Amino acid sequence: MTYVEPKPIQTGIPSLKDEVPFTMGSAFTRPETLGVHGELLAKHFNGVTPGNELKWDATEPREGEFTFTDGDHLVNFATEHGMTVRGHTLAWHSQTPDWVFENATKEVLLQRLERHVRTLVTRYKGRIAAWDVVNEVVDENQPDGLRRSKWYEIAGLDFIRTAFRVAREADPDAKLFINDYNTEFPRKREALYKLVERLKAEGVPIDGVGHQLHLNIEQPPASAVEATIERFAALGLDQQVTELDVSIYTDFVSSYDTIPPELLVQQGHRYKELFDVFRRQAGSLSSVTVWGESDDVSWLRSWPIPRLNAPLLFDDDLQAKPAYWGVVDPSRLEPFVRELEAPAAAVKVDGRRDLEWDLLPDAPLARVGDVSAGFQARSSAAGLYVLAEVTDPAVSAGDRVTFTVDGRTRALGRNSPACAAPPPATGSRPCSAAARTSRSRCTTAARAPPGRARSPPSPPSSAPPPRAARPPSWTAPWTGCGRAFPSCAPAPGSRASRAPPPRSAPSGRARPCTSWPRSPTPR
Ligand code: XIL
Repeated sequence: MTYVEPKPIQTGIPSLKDEVPFTMGSAFTRPETLGVHGELLAKHFNGVTPGNELKWDATEPREGEFTFTDGDHLVNFATEHGMTVRGHTLAWHSQTPDWVFENATKEVLLQRLERHVRTLVTRYKGRIAAWDVVNEVVDENQPDGLRRSKWYEIAGLDFIRTAFRVAREADPDAKLFINDYNTEFPRKREALYKLVERLKAEGVPIDGVGHQLHLNIEQPPASAVEATIERFAALGLDQQVTELDVSIYTDFVSSYDTIPPELLVQQGHRYKELFDVFRRQAGSLSSVTVWGESDDVSWLRSWPIPRLNAPLLFDDDLQAKPAYWGVVDPSRLEPFVRELEAPAAAVKVDGRRDLEWDLLPDAPLARVGDVSAGFQARSSAAGLYVLAEVTDPAVSAGDRVTFTVDGRTRALGRNSPACAAPPPATGSRPCSAAARTSRSRCTTAARAPPGRARSPPSPPSSAPPPRAARPPSWTAPWTGCGRAFPSCAPAPGSRASRAPPPRSAPSGRARPCTSWPRSPTPR
């Protein structure tokens, strides 16, 4: 065995907590208060959530036997470092010992709950600023939207009412939250909304809604997160992001031996989009917590299966990832490259969206609020066709899409003569290229085999790109904007895919578009 000295943390980079207009939190556990992990927490975070130490199995493993050694240690660490603490969690169906439900009538269960909640909240009165009073109580697939947990089966909604009432009595200054995952999906969002609305109307002392936000590299879009925050803002409650992480997998079975660097760049852009939303919604959000300060401590290393995952802002050596720069300074991110193969097809280029393009969904590049961008490609003997579609309702003179093909760049603006399609009545034109999306370009990037399109391309480099095997020739039409780009060799392909599959992933990635036709029939 050899002892490897841990890499020191980077002290010369901005502290996350100074860069955001809300409390920046991290989950942590006892070992992470030591050494470089403790230093990283102290530098970047002004909020913390004990990841396991305040859960029922940790605090009251046997009836009436309370243990607070680890909980106290973590709360003391936070106090010493001037961090606010989120208490997680008082009533949950998971990590709760069996004895809690054994021989429990409704009355007995509520007594057990009352003692547990009162003991914990009283112990940390004035030191824990916010409690996840109940966790994951919603099930949008039930007619009443409530999870059929033992809590619910024995006590109905009264376990929620009791937990909130007792928590309020024990520490009237603590902010009381209802916390859940998948709240960014419309059905779950609405089920939670209805529940909170109902409880509020009854006078249950709920102060806020916690959105866990366990997301993945593809889904759901940041716009769905924003829609959720806006929806709950209508209730006039505080909101917090409580357990943010961005898995690099979109399914429960794939696994990488090594993580492709481009995936980490993609993740950086994803974090950027999410933090764009959080900053815009800062009036409704009092804190954003990531579920762990660095990849090496993430729960996603063991759930849902043991695998290499890297969902957080700092890597295994506690060094800043692209994800960190996505939050702090997105201009330092490499461009987001999305690769797709170009099925064989000839497309009519007349300024309108040829029906051919409707055979596949556009590969999305970005979607923030009302602004979205996507692209597709087709190849034929005549060249490579590219559809680039940007929707941006805010018209501005600088809107344009830029294509770079073999180092030659051409920009098409809203009023470019090539944009033949009339704008829709709404004023939002798919043939727009907002300045914000100026990274949207089409190219046969040097690394891409002929017939593949990558968007946006690698940034122009001073070295000339390697030549394609055949003399290049491109035709790049796009909705409303037809333009031929004579360059780049097309190689008619037949498969469509939105991104390279994980190199070691046996069964591919559960993408929303796995049902795409693998070989669309050219018309
Ligand atoms: C996780 C912890 O991080 C793991 O260490 C533990 O083994 C399982 O629970 N939603 C929650 C958190 O509300 O409590 C979970 O934390 C992650 C999912």
